[in-house]
Amino acid sequence: MGWDWFMSALPYGEQWKDQRRLFQQHFHPSNVTVYEDTIVEYVHEFLSDILQTPQDFLAHVRRIPGGAAISLAYGIKVERYNDRFVKVAEHAVNAITAAGVPGAFLVDIFPILKYVPEFIPGAGFKQKAKEWRQDMLAFRNDSFAEAISRIELGNARPSFTSRAMEGINASNAEYHTKLVQDTAGMIYGAASHTTISAIYTFLIAMLHYPYVIKKAQSELDRVIGQSRLPDFGDMKRTPYIMAIVKEVLRWQPVTPQAIPHRLMEEDVYEGYVFPAGTIFVPNAWAMLHNEEDYPEPMVFRPERFLNSNGNINIEIRDPNGMAFGFGRRICAGIHIAEATLWLTIASVLSTFDISPRVDKDGKDILPKLFYQSSIVS
Ligand code: HEM
Repeated sequence: MGWDWFMSALPYGEQWKDQRRLFQQHFHPSNVTVYEDTIVEYVHEFLSDILQTPQDFLAHVRRIPGGAAISLAYGIKVERYNDRFVKVAEHAVNAITAAGVPGAFLVDIFPILKYVPEFIPGAGFKQKAKEWRQDMLAFRNDSFAEAISRIELGNARPSFTSRAMEGINASNAEYHTKLVQDTAGMIYGAASHTTISAIYTFLIAMLHYPYVIKKAQSELDRVIGQSRLPDFGDMKRTPYIMAIVKEVLRWQPVTPQAIPHRLMEEDVYEGYVFPAGTIFVPNAWAMLHNEEDYPEPMVFRPERFLNSNGNINIEIRDPNGMAFGFGRRICAGIHIAEATLWLTIASVLSTFDISPRVDKDGKDILPKLFYQSSIVS
């Protein structure tokens, strides 16, 4: 499908190191000015969108991380409806998340099938891969070309691309340009569907557990008051909101099977020998629903992360160590994801109530907890 440049799909090696280093240099957790303003901009627009057309909430949610990712990566401000860059990006990323589930296609298990000619019955996956490759190319190339053209015209908003292209010189131009293009392309792919899934989970959790809304609103009223919206300075002072963020990521993990890792060298674990090349599919779902760490794991209960003083209890296993992957490949954008989720949740609960539709007898219609199967749930 042509995604071999995508950071999560890269094998451990120079190309991966260069991408990860470039990403981390730009989005270092200490450099909050690079991303916080953009998140605030999209979350505030989301609030006004919800006020005007609450029935379109699913689309409005998608625009927060999707729009923020495109702005952060390319300096392109995303339109409210039918943005062409978002459309292309969503199309491409939908395909990779569906096809990325280990075993989704027989060829994942029997790689030799990739040599089967396209006309043989059952080889439809090859045609699909071809189409998806076109989507991927449009996604990676168009937004980057647009960002470069704005930089050349001098009217680009500062972004990952504009800053990273400053480091370019004649001796490394070709390699560096491709590195910037690949890393920028990865940002939407890694940031959007994952964060959207978590925000959807937050909304459905509020319908099923309305007491959480009341408790959160009382914390927000106490800490922030009613005359302004939450800002990042309030993050440390609102442990209940942070506990909701953690419970969202634990209760319905965004990537229940994480991302598969391949062993580079033979290794031994608890007496089992694993040859180099072994593929591990971490069962993040099971870890995040382990009853020893999280009693009654199917219940959404943010309080499980708090101590008796109402602060985050550091003795409870932090879901971040499982919900965002593992080892040196752990999500490089955890701080951006957490910031986006915290601000979205705090802002929504500061300004709105969330309640289910009611039927003609006035009874709540609770949506089913149904998740589509894909690498991003
Ligand atoms: C709720 C939101 C998110 C979740 C649940 C999530 C989860 C993950 C997971 C499970 C991985 C694979 C880790 C592994 O291979 O073990 C990953 C990788 C990655 N994520 Fe996230 N992510 C989220 C948001 C973001 C955001 C907002 C960004 C950037 C703006 C980001 C950037 C990355 C990058 C760069 C990688 C590749 C790391 C590597 O292969 O070295 N993620 N993420």
